[in-house]
Amino acid sequence: MAELIDGRAVAAEVVEKVTAQAAGLIAAGTTPGLAVVIVGEDPASQVYVASKSKKARECGFHSVQHTLPAETPEEELVALVEALNRDPAIHGILVQLPLPDHVDAGRIIQTIAPEKDVDGFHFINVGKLGTGELATAFVPCTPAGSMLLLQRVRGKDLSGLSAVVVGRSNIVGKPMANLLLAANATVTIAHSRTADLPALARTADILVAAVGRPEMVKGDWVKPGATVIDVGINRIPAPEKGEGKTRLVGDVAFEEARAVAGAITPVPGGVGPMTIAMLMANTLTSACRAAGRKPPVF
Ligand code: GUN
Repeated sequence: MAELIDGRAVAAEVVEKVTAQAAGLIAAGTTPGLAVVIVGEDPASQVYVASKSKKARECGFHSVQHTLPAETPEEELVALVEALNRDPAIHGILVQLPLPDHVDAGRIIQTIAPEKDVDGFHFINVGKLGTGELATAFVPCTPAGSMLLLQRVRGKDLSGLSAVVVGRSNIVGKPMANLLLAANATVTIAHSRTADLPALARTADILVAAVGRPEMVKGDWVKPGATVIDVGINRIPAPEKGEGKTRLVGDVAFEEARAVAGAITPVPGGVGPMTIAMLMANTLTSACRAAGRKPPVF
């Protein structure tokens, strides 16, 4: 039976370290500032954004939230991001995705100043990650958090290990593959067009599932002893809990995979809590850089 990787515990450690470092920075005259922007009323996004703003306050940050109506014109959003770029009290800017269809999300992301892009989505930060300029980059929060969980089991150097990342999104799959490569793993990115995905997955010492399909990765896709990182968060019907009830599952069929893997992240309580923790870490890093102080290593 696989070891469970406790994302809640690791996230709490990260937040504790961020809070302690923030206190030092505040005493020296710089309060880390995070601005979160949400457009529209999507209930899931509202919940995510509220928890990001709340966690920022708990860390002692200056935390501002801009909640805009769904019909906000693109130019207005650009103007808001530009104002936040100029605001010296703000070190991190996060525009919650998805944005309404009439807004060009790519343009909004590229408007964020790269040195305040705590999501790590700007081309400058994508390029820095791809070329190994990690000292000045921002790494997207979910892959960064996944790497911290992986380190707990495998250490920082993944030399000689094979990693398969299932999913090629810009937010998770591609940056995750770059981080694994930077840690010396031998990396394959698999996706919906990959031939014989189960056989490929079975070659992986490190298997990362980031596709957004509930319980797609089965137990017999997992190499015995592998480390399985499940990035998926999917809400599915749970009639066994009562009519209309739902439950959260990952992209991995957890009970099956747990019987084969060496270590595995649960859902909920695995990668999920790490995303917000790493957003706090990135915001602290940004404030340290702005203040000319060396950021901590997480
Ligand atoms: N929507 C879902 N995940 C994310 C994220 O990590 N950042 C932003 N900005 N929006 C998201």
